[in-house]
Amino acid sequence: MTIAQISRDAGEPLMAMRAIEKSYGPVVVLKGVDLILRPGEVHGLLGENGAGKSTLMRIVFGLAQPDRGTIELAGKGTVRIESPRHALSLGIGLVSQELSLVPQLDVAQNIFLGSTQALHAIPRPELKRKAAEILAELAPHIDCSASVGSLGMADRQLVEIARTLARGGEIIAFDEPTSSLTPTEQENLFKVIAKLREAGKGIIYISHRMSEIRAICDVITVLRDGQVIMTDRTDAHDTDTINSMITGRELSNATSRARHASQSAGPDLLSLDRLTTDRVKSISASVKAGEIFGLAGLVGSGRSALLRAIFGIDPIRSGHLKVAGREVTIKSPSDAIAQGVAYLPEDRRGQAVVPMMSIESNFGLVSLSRYSRFGFIDFARRRAAIRKLSAELSIKPRNIAVPLGHLSGGNQQKVIIARWLATNAKIYLFDEPTRGIDVGAKAEIYELLQRLAAEGAAVVVVSSELPELLYLADRIGIMEDGHLNTVIENSETLTEDRVMKLMTAGVAQ
Ligand SMILES: Nc1ncnc2c1ncn2[C@@H]1O[C@H](COP(=O)(O)OP(=O)(O)OP(=O)(O)O)[C@@H](O)[C@H]1O
Ligand SMILES: [Mg+2]
Repeated sequence: MTIAQISRDAGEPLMAMRAIEKSYGPVVVLKGVDLILRPGEVHGLLGENGAGKSTLMRIVFGLAQPDRGTIELAGKGTVRIESPRHALSLGIGLVSQELSLVPQLDVAQNIFLGSTQALHAIPRPELKRKAAEILAELAPHIDCSASVGSLGMADRQLVEIARTLARGGEIIAFDEPTSSLTPTEQENLFKVIAKLREAGKGIIYISHRMSEIRAICDVITVLRDGQVIMTDRTDAHDTDTINSMITGRELSNATSRARHASQSAGPDLLSLDRLTTDRVKSISASVKAGEIFGLAGLVGSGRSALLRAIFGIDPIRSGHLKVAGREVTIKSPSDAIAQGVAYLPEDRRGQAVVPMMSIESNFGLVSLSRYSRFGFIDFARRRAAIRKLSAELSIKPRNIAVPLGHLSGGNQQKVIIARWLATNAKIYLFDEPTRGIDVGAKAEIYELLQRLAAEGAAVVVVSSELPELLYLADRIGIMEDGHLNTVIENSETLTEDRVMKLMTAGVAQ
């Protein structure tokens, strides 16, 4: 079915983007994109990291201008969307991929942030009531007067969503809104989206997770390299077909278990003995050289807090840490790095990255020592290593002189992972390593983690995606309420259901 047919089938579109082109210097990002959004439609936008999804949304929200092409809005004709403020006044909202909250302000203030227009038009108590109402539906646990700086990633994402919803609008775009949400929070969001759809709004929804796309999108558009490959009803295509449209190739079905119990693993590389911080309680566990240790648990169960403790971010109150059998004191990330510990946090913006610096220089921020001899950095050797890693992870663009801030969200994430891979770390702590990563590159990241283990590293992976843990981990530790409750061997017979039950054992009691 063509776009023309779809729009003919369903009356007047809310928005029609036609032949949108956009380049940044020599990089052509969008090559004539058409997107028709109808009232009461949830329209999924799919594509690999760097395909141009966020760029298209930035154009819809007035954050970037197209070089060519037109945008028509129902009742308003052809418009030029000058700025986010203009977009809001035209009834367009965007929940952007990179969160833009102000940590120093409280939740309610953040929800009103930037909506001066609304502030003038609607009385403040009314706005506040509206914000509280939206939060009640979306995230009842969030306190309107809490400071955003004290919230975890998931709650920040929910506040960002609430902020866009509070501003109203006929068209709302969500750019990977669920990347840090729990299943319950995601369900709440889907309920809210269903209501918006019933109210006749047009919703654009970007996600790398096919299960979400299937759950809520009526129609999907697949973008590849800045071109529309297809627009059609979601239920008209199976997942394999859609994945191959996204990537332009057939993907191998790597769903069978890659790992088998830790027979090949070596001696304990990382040992925790009754490790206690403000968030985790008396954790004892060890991870062997050559082992991938998965951490499962609900958001807030202490998985991320445990990684932060090992990396020297959260102060250790009591207990001991051993690296390769030797007791070590880790009081800061630099202590941890000196012990050969690498850490990928869940919040990629909290990483020591400098968006204005090139990909290559961002590597330099952590991986100098490996390429220095007698105090001099061997730039040529380092550059070759970075190029090789970029190619392996298919980081786009391949030119490592490009500023990191110009990369798509998923590609920035890949650079951060690759950067650690270029160090001499022996212990890797990964918090949600494939969040925001497209379906093709996920497999590449899995392979890299497996290779690290095969080369003798100890790898700890926190993931909210159980299939990912079942695929990767040798053993899975289950955390609940700051405690490491159980550690189970991964095997062919272990199911998602069983892990899920263990995760919520305390809740069920
Ligand atoms: N300001 C900029 N300058 C130069 N290139 C840019 C700029 N913004 C985006 N690009 C390039 O545009 C391309 C598309 O990026 P975009 O962020 O739209 O991808 P995406 O589909 O949202 O990917 P992801 O799934 O990783 O979020 C990328 O190759 C990126 O490097
Ligand atoms: Mg994006």
